[in-house]
Amino acid sequence: MIKITVPATTANIGPGFDCLGMALNLYADITFEEIEEGLVIEGCQPEYQNEDNLIYQSMLGIFKKARYRHRGIKITINSDIPISRGLGSSAACILAGIMAANEIADARLTKQQILKIATQIEGHPDNVTPALFGGMIVSVYDNDEVYFSKIPLNDSVDFYALIPNFTLSTSQARSVLPKQISFDDATFNVGRVALMIASFFNGSLDLLNVSIKDRLHQKYRGALIHEYDTIMEKLDDLQIKGAFLSGAGPTIIAIANKDDSTVEPAITNILQSLENRWLLKKLCTEINGAIVGRG
Ligand code: HSE
Repeated sequence: MIKITVPATTANIGPGFDCLGMALNLYADITFEEIEEGLVIEGCQPEYQNEDNLIYQSMLGIFKKARYRHRGIKITINSDIPISRGLGSSAACILAGIMAANEIADARLTKQQILKIATQIEGHPDNVTPALFGGMIVSVYDNDEVYFSKIPLNDSVDFYALIPNFTLSTSQARSVLPKQISFDDATFNVGRVALMIASFFNGSLDLLNVSIKDRLHQKYRGALIHEYDTIMEKLDDLQIKGAFLSGAGPTIIAIANKDDSTVEPAITNILQSLENRWLLKKLCTEINGAIVGRG
């Protein structure tokens, strides 16, 4: 039996659309067994228990590449990563499938090869790269290859994920993005993502409330998220470093000074005034990334 553990991820982190991401300490544990025949998938909604399952589809690509004739497959999912909430559930499924198939077929893919295949399936590298390597990472896909660099993180902040009880698919959240953006908006984001990364390198996050702003995706996607503007305005009134839409949403992540005991009750207060139910989870960066275990 093979067990793949993959962390949740947040992507974009304000201005870093499709290039900035970070692994978080919420995990999917997915076990894989070869069985006599057929496909058995447990631990997810019935709608995902079939051959279209993203984990299974990601395995098939590797089996084909390695010319491996598999027997039946049993997949058991035990995941704390909520689905379609902007916390990297699809990146976790893709990586788990590729990494498990790599072991089963003895395909001997390197991590870089796994990263490239996962990025090709996902369509962008900002979730899969930190999910595979851990930490906060800038990554770009260029000329059929993924290039990435880790950002050193200091331990001075906590991340608060505000997770609603409704979903938003990445494809829907991408469909509302404009085909073109103004030079002003591009300049706005370039400056801020550079400032944010420089401040992480300098270990001083005083500029986060300015550098976390975005003009490429959040305002378009915010319109799909019930009470998004209200939440962002109320978060803006708190003594925190800033807040951003996690990946394609609908989860929002607030960044605050480490161990500031006023933050959790203040955010809980905001959430209690909303029409939908939102869960608050205090998270931190996960530094190891996905791992393979054997049972
Ligand atoms: N960068 C991606 C997006 C992350 O914003 O669409 C979601 O998968």
